[in-house]
Formats: sequence, C-alpha cells, structure tokens
Amino acid sequence: DVSLPTAETLLDWYDRHARTMPWRVPPAQRKNGVMPDPYRVWMSEVMLQQTTVAAVRDYFNKFTARWPRVTDLAAAEDADVMAAWAGLGYYARARNLLKCARAVANDHGGIFPQTYAELIKLPGIGPYTAAAVASIAFDEAATVVDGNVERVMSRIFNVQNPLPDSKSELTELAATLTPTDRPGDYAQAVMDLGATICTPRNPACGLCPWRDNCRARLFGTPAELPHKKPK
Ligand code: ADE
Repeated sequence: DVSLPTAETLLDWYDRHARTMPWRVPPAQRKNGVMPDPYRVWMSEVMLQQTTVAAVRDYFNKFTARWPRVTDLAAAEDADVMAAWAGLGYYARARNLLKCARAVANDHGGIFPQTYAELIKLPGIGPYTAAAVASIAFDEAATVVDGNVERVMSRIFNVQNPLPDSKSELTELAATLTPTDRPGDYAQAVMDLGATICTPRNPACGLCPWRDNCRARLFGTPAELPHKKPK
C-alpha cells in the first residue's frame, strides 16, 4: 500500500520553492519568528478568491499603499474602494471587505481577532478566509480548503466521488494532513503545490514532493481528478 503523505515533506519542498508574494513572509524569515500582518493576509485572501495571484498582485499593492492599516480602509469612502476594485471582478468581495474592515475597526479596536472561532463571526468572512487568516497570520492549525486543495486531496487519496458531493470528504481528508507545526506555511504550501505542480491539466508529477504518496498517480489517472458533476 501507499504511505500517507506528511506535512514535513511538503514543508521541506516549500522551504525551497515557495513563491514570492507581497503579502508573504518568506520561510527563512518565518523561521526567525517573523509573522505576516493579519490585515495584509486577510486582504490578499479576499482578493485571491476567484482571482489569480498574477492579477491580484498590483491591486494588493495599490490597496495597501493607499490604506496601510485596517482602520484606514474602514474610514474610506465606499465609492473610493469600489473604484479602486474596478477590474478585479466579483464586486461583492469589495463590499464584504469594507464591511469586515469596519467591524474590526469599530468592534475590535482595529485589531484583528486571532482565532478561527472569532474570525468567522466577522461580517463578510467565510470558512475559507477565517481558516486562511487563522493559520497564516496566527499559526492556528485550521484547514484551508480552496480549489487547489480539493484537487490535491482528490489525487492524493484517489477520490472518485465527484464534486460538489465530495466536498465534505475532501475537507476531512485535508484536515487529517494539517500539522500543528507551521500550519500557515503548510496551507500556503498546499496551495502552491496545486498552482504549480498538481495543476488541473498536465500535472508535473515527476517534480511532486508527494509523488510516492499519491494514490491517483500510482493507481489511477491524476489529471482526470477531481471529477465534477455536470451542472
Ligand atoms: N491562493 C489563495 N491564497 C493563496 C496563498 N496564500 N498562497 C498561494 N496561493 C493562494
């Protein structure tokens, strides 16, 4: 049988291959105890939902230059924020961004809550964003599940059940692999793996740090996973 993948193997890969992004603290600095700013993590994760890293980069830099802290964003005019968002799409995200910034400013003294349980209570923050901020900014062992993570898990465990039926199963499988050591780096490592190696088409299995732990590679056809129910 195939042994389970370990977070350690993926973190070792991430230490060597992490992509550089303006909201990230590189692994070498993380090792020295430097943590990313929760405001910047939250902003980047809201922007990255339904949008690629390449498209987000300039918008992220523009937003954080103009509104460096959550209290600055909370005090902005709605129209200015909507205008700055123009081109990114899915405008509900910009409205939720403002709603959440104002809640942090007004109800939390401008300080982001530090746990998944508290973050999920904020308006405009769902399970994905709460888990991303809790893990990346506060090193809580929360499990982040986006399309990348679903794809990686469906292949590692050779899940034949199609999405969206398999969503809860993939979430549970992802949770079983989430480590208590460096959960934030781990979350970003799985997403980087999905974005650069375990890609939707033509995955680069030969370069994958989990290639010997992947049930789809060893017993199936990784590029065909995850299956999706016709809409
Ligand atoms: N996609 C969404 N959030 C991401 C992150 N923090 N790193 C890489 N890809 C992502």
